[in-house]
Amino acid sequence: MTKRIGITSDHGGFALKAKIKDAFAAYEWVDLGTDSAESVDYPDFGYKLAEEIASGALETGIAICGSGIGISMSLNRYKEVRAAVCHDVTTARLTRIDNNANVLCLGARVVGDVVALDTVKAFLDTEFEAGGRHERRVNKLAEKGQ
Ligand code: RB5
Repeated sequence: MTKRIGITSDHGGFALKAKIKDAFAAYEWVDLGTDSAESVDYPDFGYKLAEEIASGALETGIAICGSGIGISMSLNRYKEVRAAVCHDVTTARLTRIDNNANVLCLGARVVGDVVALDTVKAFLDTEFEAGGRHERRVNKLAEKGQ
């Protein structure tokens, strides 16, 4: 079955969002906007993806703004979300293995397209190392938050 992945961005990430969807066309993308380069507020789009994850409608997402930071802050206000800003393959891989991150956040003004696409591939291809210390620590994250 084709894996469904949520994707969202503000205007700063709009162009990279389209490139990610093109490069990984084998996935089913649930695009939550924004739909143009017109200025919008990143929390509105971070919250859209967070709501999908919190409700269980989606398990995984990608969120993009200029730095990756603002949109990650909005996503991480939901206790069901573990959003990680990653700008290289190593941190993308480790945040899956160690943190079971369910949202990758990218800063379109920070990394080039090739690095961003490699980072997405590493994030999507890596499984959480379930059981043991990593799971215990991730469970502690779930105990806090709104
Ligand atoms: C928008 O100009 C910019 O502030 C936003 O994309 C992001 O970088 C915020 O963290």
